[in-house]
Amino acid sequence: MPTLNINGKDTPVNADESTPILWALRDTLGMTGTKFGCGAALCGACTVHLNGAAIRSCITPISAAAGQKITTIEAVATDRVGKAVQDAWVKHDVAQCGYCQSGQVMSATALLKTNTKPSDADIDGAMAGNICRCGTYVRIRAAIKDAALALA
Ligand code: FES
Ligand code: FES
Repeated sequence: MPTLNINGKDTPVNADESTPILWALRDTLGMTGTKFGCGAALCGACTVHLNGAAIRSCITPISAAAGQKITTIEAVATDRVGKAVQDAWVKHDVAQCGYCQSGQVMSATALLKTNTKPSDADIDGAMAGNICRCGTYVRIRAAIKDAALALA
């Protein structure tokens, strides 16, 4: 049985190594904070971190995460940057229906881990793969800038 390091804990996963991480999280482990949108790396709803970088868990097999660290929305606030992003999301009341938002928070956190003062273009570039059908993009950008300020 494969073992994944998820949110700092080695976790046996009763699934084939070719199973996408998204389904290991949701179906096998019951961690439903990570969402299914398209299943084809087109929407970003399934975004998690692999060693701190944003990846699409719907197309990434368990085998690709062997010996690496997965972080999901359930633990993002245990990290200083992730906490600042979550706080800014609440402050700006970013979420509308909320479906895309765990993926948005994971991508925003990954951005701020590598770019402490992102420009509008940096934000648009980093967030381009995260689709929001409710159109919360203006609030997302404001929240990312606010989180960057809080972390400065
Ligand atoms: S569900 Fe993975 S990118 Fe849409
Ligand atoms: S908040 Fe509804 S899809 Fe983004």
